[in-house]
Amino acid sequence: MQRLLNHPPSPLQALLPWPGLAERGIELYIKRDDLLCLPAYRGDCSFSGNKWRKLKYNLFNARQWQLHTLLTFGGPYSNHLAATASAGALFGFKTIGIVRGERIEPLNPTLLHCLRCGMELQFWERSRYRQKEEEELISELGALYPRAAIIPEGGSNYLGVLGAESISKEIQEQCPGVSIIAAACGTGGTLAGMIRACKSPCEVWGFPVLKGNFMQQEVEKLLNEQGKAPWKIIEAYHFGGYGKTTVELLDFMQQIKNDHDLPLEPIYTAKLLFGILDQLSKNEIPEGSKIVVLHSGGLQGWPNEI
Ligand SMILES: Cc1ncc(COP(=O)(O)O)c(C=O)c1O
Repeated sequence: MQRLLNHPPSPLQALLPWPGLAERGIELYIKRDDLLCLPAYRGDCSFSGNKWRKLKYNLFNARQWQLHTLLTFGGPYSNHLAATASAGALFGFKTIGIVRGERIEPLNPTLLHCLRCGMELQFWERSRYRQKEEEELISELGALYPRAAIIPEGGSNYLGVLGAESISKEIQEQCPGVSIIAAACGTGGTLAGMIRACKSPCEVWGFPVLKGNFMQQEVEKLLNEQGKAPWKIIEAYHFGGYGKTTVELLDFMQQIKNDHDLPLEPIYTAKLLFGILDQLSKNEIPEGSKIVVLHSGGLQGWPNEI
């Protein structure tokens, strides 16, 4: 398990050449957390990216308290469920995944992966699933599974946020003078950790992949007044909401794969990179900026990788 803490930093790659960058003295890099990976099951790399960062202290904590089960929550395509299942198989924890909504056969590749890793799947109807953060329900689960670490959806608890701090720390070491660090947001936990460890004047920009302007508040809640660096949420690149995509976004992904050999997926990372490049083309990014965009992984959910 020490491998989770003592690993070389994930690679930082320049995304070049991109039209107009050099003229404006802008440097653009990708932080390849998708390559931060311990293959769990037949070379599968589900336990990678921001999932590695957010789960690592949760796993240590479970081991320290001699808990033998990881119990967590997610939608049927959840990268977090897949990562928890892989981590359980890797480190010898039993895993229970509570899935939003009814069981639909045949199971999709994410849920099949969970089963193959030995995860017990429970399908909860949506109204019950919505109560997943309520104290009463958590205590009920605690009584039912007394030796389980109960980890919230997305792994975004205090330990998850703490784990995500290492993303900013690595970036600032690998890229001295970095001025903007950008990440996709689902629950906001990754962004909160990155903000906490980011040193001003570097800024953190979050690109929510869900529709609705709640992300600012979610991140503030997770930060709990701990963040010092400037940060902002840019709402304009959700492409219709979670799991929604457009032909323009899919074409963009293909272009990035062809021209830069960079695999993205349409739920998080394509939306983020599209957003940053659109901000660049609209001159919303100051001349001379040094930007690092986080590739947070998620490729397991996009098996027909282009
Ligand atoms: C690949 C990927 N990128 C980004 C995110 C967003 O992270 P967070 O939920 O911490 O905002 C997720 C979801 O956790 C994800 O699976």
